Amino acid sequence: RRPKPLTGKTIIMTSGPTHEPIDPVRYIANRSSGKQGHAIAAALAKLGATVRLVSGPVSIPDPEGVTVTHVESAREMRDAVEQFLPADAAVMVAAVADWRTANEAGEKIKKKPGEKAPALQMVENPDILAGIGHSKLRPRLVVGFAAETQDLLKNARKKLDKKGADWIVANDVSHATGVMGGDRNAVRIVSRSGVEEWPDMSKGEVAERLAARIAAALQAVEV
Ligand code: C5P
Repeated sequence: RRPKPLTGKTIIMTSGPTHEPIDPVRYIANRSSGKQGHAIAAALAKLGATVRLVSGPVSIPDPEGVTVTHVESAREMRDAVEQFLPADAAVMVAAVADWRTANEAGEKIKKKPGEKAPALQMVENPDILAGIGHSKLRPRLVVGFAAETQDLLKNARKKLDKKGADWIVANDVSHATGVMGGDRNAVRIVSRSGVEEWPDMSKGEVAERLAARIAAALQAVEV
């Protein structure tokens, strides 16, 4: 029997949204079911990889064969990801909130008669993918995602350098595509050598194809 192609390889992943607390009962979040990221984690594990998945809050089960660290906020996600370096590859699928509230309230903010609605002040969150892509411990293969509603390819190409990624998996999440929360996805793999357009398929199929491509890249001498 041939060994599995990713045996002995460690892959760090993120999936799901992040929740950024406003106070103990309220938060700001991105829309993400975690379906695509979790499917990729499962597909990589099936090919023999040791997968360290850092997941934001999702309502789907942990993928089979995968070690999962559950976190809430972007900062917790970043800390968990950094703990797992070094690794052979990183696949960052999470929909990380770009901003968090500047001052998280320790107690529930109360509505008081006659008082104005509170104004939320926001600060930027760490960019986890860019941190890993530009890290001294950078994995050999770094894969990011780009969910866009316009200028998909232009934005994805820009992200390659900004985030220090080898590939950006770009998908159009415009409302009409039904990708958000749905079971299907149509993606493009954007790398420095060009753009590969994949047909519409299930998120499971996208995951298997991507896992196979990652295995091929890690087996090659050069990514
Ligand atoms: O810039 P944008 O959010 O569109 O980039 C998406 C890619 O960057 C995804 O791979 C996502 O997981 C990652 N990302 C991240 N940390 C952030 C923002 C995005 O890891 N704060």
